[in-house]
This record gives sequence, C-alpha cells and structure tokens, in this order.
Amino acid sequence: MKPKDTYAVVTGAGKGLGKSLSVELARRNKNLVLLAKEGEDLFGFGAFLTKKYGVKIHCVEVDFLQEESLATVADKLKNLNVNILVNNAGIGGSMFFDQTDIQRIDSILQVNIRMLVMLTRLLISKLKNQTSSYILNVASMASCCPIAYKSVYPASKAFVYSFSKSLAEELKCFGVHVCVLLPGPIKTNSEVSHRIEKQGWWVKAGLQTPTQLAQIGIDALFRHKSVVIPGLITKINWLLLKILPKSICIPMVSQAVKNEISAVDSAVPLKELKFT
Ligand SMILES: NC(=O)c1ccc[n+]([C@@H]2O[C@H](COP(=O)([O-])OP(=O)(O)OC[C@H]3O[C@@H](n4cnc5c(N)ncnc54)[C@H](OP(=O)(O)O)[C@@H]3O)[C@@H](O)[C@H]2O)c1
Repeated sequence: MKPKDTYAVVTGAGKGLGKSLSVELARRNKNLVLLAKEGEDLFGFGAFLTKKYGVKIHCVEVDFLQEESLATVADKLKNLNVNILVNNAGIGGSMFFDQTDIQRIDSILQVNIRMLVMLTRLLISKLKNQTSSYILNVASMASCCPIAYKSVYPASKAFVYSFSKSLAEELKCFGVHVCVLLPGPIKTNSEVSHRIEKQGWWVKAGLQTPTQLAQIGIDALFRHKSVVIPGLITKINWLLLKILPKSICIPMVSQAVKNEISAVDSAVPLKELKFT
C-alpha cells in the first residue's frame, strides 16, 4: 500500500521569511500546508509551488487574532499527516511602551507566544506519530537581550527561545527535532527596510536575505541543530551579547533603537512602524 503523504505546516507563509521558508521546503520536495491571513494571494503562491516543484499544497487563510483560529487550523489539518511544523508568524514594533496601543501589545503576545505554543500542542501527537519529525521556531537575535522601546517583542522572542530548548529536550527521545532560528536583520518588508536604512554600517553588514536565511534554517533543521545563529556577523553579535555585561548591552542596544525611532521619517507614523 502507498504510504500516506506527509506535510510541512508553515505559519506566516504569505510573505517575508515565511514565504522563503515555504519555497525552500518545496524545493526539497516537501508537501506544504501554507497558513496566512487573507489578502496575501496564498492560493496563487501555492499554485506556483505546485507548478514549479510538483509538491502538494493546502492553503489555509486564517487570522491568529481571531478566537476561532486554532479550531479552524485543527479542522483543516485533521486528516493530514504532519511531519514538519515551522512557527514563523511573528509581529513586533519599536515604540515607547506608554504610547503603544494596548491592542497592539495583545497582538504581539497572541501571535508570537500564544498561537506558537497552541499550534505546537495541537500538532504534537501528529509529529510524534512519525518516525522522524521537525519543529522550526523563528525567534530573533532580539531574544538574547532586553531592549527598551521594543520591550514586549524581545521578551516574546526570549520566550520562544526558552520554549524551544525545553521542547527539544523533552521530545528528543520521540524523534521530534526542535530547532530555534535567531535571525539578525532581514529586509522582509518596506517598514523593516526603512528602519534598517537608518542603522549604521555594522547592522547593514549583517543583513541577510530571506532566501539565504531560509536555506540556512531548513538545512540546520534537517541536520538536527537545536539553535541556529545564521551568518558571521550575527554570530559575532550573539557572542558580544553573551560575554558583555547586560549593564553595557541593554543601554547600548536600546539607544540604537531610540535613535532609530527619532530618525524615522515623519511620513511613516510611529504607530505603523514594524521592527522585527
Ligand atoms: N525582519 C527581521 O528583521 C526579523 C529579524 C529577526 C526575526 N524575525 C522574525 O521572522 C519572522 C518573520 O518575520 P518577517 O520579517 O518575515 O515579517 P513580516 O514580513 O511582517 O511577516 C510576518 C508574518 O507573520 C504573520 N502574521 C502576523 N500577524 C498574523 C496574524 N494575526 N495571523 C496570522 N499570521 C500573522 C504574517 O502573515 P500575513 O502574511 O498573513 O500577514 C507574516 O507572514 C517573525 O517571527 C519575526 O519576528 C524577523
């Protein structure tokens, strides 16, 4: 009897890094379930992947801020075998905490933490059912250091890092490999690109494309790495954040973010600035 198809589930697959991760998985002949909000031409992207790589694609348009989102995903996946989960969806922003909309803070917690954990819990028995399976969680270099004017975002990514390391330990005897990716800056959308343009040469030197990151991340996942720090400059930054006292790192990194907020073109309202 022909074995049933297995699928990789990717969140935030409609754009940015999630789109590149989906391409990279399709290139490696993995069938995909693409999750994204409405309005990203997910079905067009899915059709493109099928045509180019001959893989099977399911598209699920779902907004993680809607209460029924987990139930919607559970329903769409109930008859599928899943052997890869990529938790990529994430939101952030740079702003003074007391000026940040309460709803925006709630959205960061919901997408970056709550849905990541819930989706993992939802799929864990499917993943354990496979001989070998994989979870890739996208954190950030921001997980390595508290950063003023971004406060909730780095804390949410520190959560993702800790959660990933705990799960990696717990699931290793079940053949479920958990990996956490810590990217530095990536020009994934116009707001992030605008922000990066305001930074100095060192940040710009560390820039990586979504395609590069996707290749490094997926490669490391299949090589059973538990933490991926992509690129030389990201590695140097990671090391500096590790060895320098926090009393030096926190003010230094926070000041760079504060300068960036001040340097922002008045054409871009602060409220809409994204900084992942
Ligand atoms: N860009 C950077 O410099 C950078 C650096 C380090 C880490 N990261 C991390 O990399 C990941 C991808 O970021 P990106 O730069 O590619 O950002 P992006 O272009 O803004 O993409 C964010 C992704 O999250 C998804 N998402 C946001 N809100 C959602 C919601 N309510 N429901 C469902 N999905 C939602 C988006 O889905 P839709 O397409 O449906 O909107 C989108 O695909 C994030 O976890 C981010 O924190 C980014």
